[in-house]
Amino acid sequence: MEIKHFLQFKDLTSEEFEYLFERTREIKSRFKSYQQYWPLVDRTLVMIFEKASTRTRLSFEAGMQQLGGSAIYLNTRDSQLGRGEPVEDAAQVISRMSDLVMIRTFEQDIIERFAANSRVPVINGLTNEYHPCQILADIYTYIEHRGSIKGKTVAWIGDSNNVCNTWLQAAEVLDFNVHVSTPPGYEVEPERAGLYGTDHYEEFPDPMDACRDADLVTTDVWTSMGFEAENEERLRDFEHWQVDAEMMAQAKPDALFMHCLPAHRGEEVAAEVIDGAQSVVWDEAENRLHAQKALMEYLLLGKISG
Ligand code: CP
Ligand code: NVA
Repeated sequence: MEIKHFLQFKDLTSEEFEYLFERTREIKSRFKSYQQYWPLVDRTLVMIFEKASTRTRLSFEAGMQQLGGSAIYLNTRDSQLGRGEPVEDAAQVISRMSDLVMIRTFEQDIIERFAANSRVPVINGLTNEYHPCQILADIYTYIEHRGSIKGKTVAWIGDSNNVCNTWLQAAEVLDFNVHVSTPPGYEVEPERAGLYGTDHYEEFPDPMDACRDADLVTTDVWTSMGFEAENEERLRDFEHWQVDAEMMAQAKPDALFMHCLPAHRGEEVAAEVIDGAQSVVWDEAENRLHAQKALMEYLLLGKISG
């Protein structure tokens, strides 16, 4: 079987995502009814973390165990990765001892170089540029609550970061629209976002306008991991980009609110929104587990029936 990596959202086709959403539904439903499902017995996932994580680590580690396999955690601090071993060498070695690798790191180039030297599939668990597993789970969550996302409008409020870039790629692959509002100086960089064009997104200087008639409103931290030195400046620059009740009121009455978490109440989102009736953030976090189980099954076993 040809090795398939998931390094950015557009690595898979809309048809493959349809399959993954179906499998996620099936795998989640079996899990909820306590049915044992062990298709990955004897398979080993290596998880490499160069940045902190709660959800990504937990969902991959628990997910692999629930599928009958095992997961090994490596971080920069206590492996040779932090002491300058070339990423190409690490990839050669790690991929000879495992069946699947998940990496959370800094530049996308690092994961691309790892994948180019890997004998096994590599999954992006977040880079400075992208967070494809997050949007896989987010769109599954949207589908669970509201049905197909095709033709719908997602409002992205805040930083044009890794999560934003991935929403923009997803809009191209799955044919929906993103209304983006960022403070001046933080606009989308289409090349960095890896976009084919500008057909699936529109930028709005005023976040209120971006939210108008949206089906889903979403945001993320103002300062992503790796950009901590800019925190003070960002707190000032993003002040008017907090998703609050007034902003949510611009969206459709049945609009959902999502946030990949961790969240900062009083910064990018008001407590009344994230803890309010339109928020689906806990389902969104839980669905990381189910969606990534479907992803791991697909990358290791291909399409299966039943
Ligand atoms: N959303 C997300 O990836 O969370 P963690 O940083 O906790 O993994
Ligand atoms: N944009 C955030 C997402 C955290 C899950 C970051 O990169 O820190």
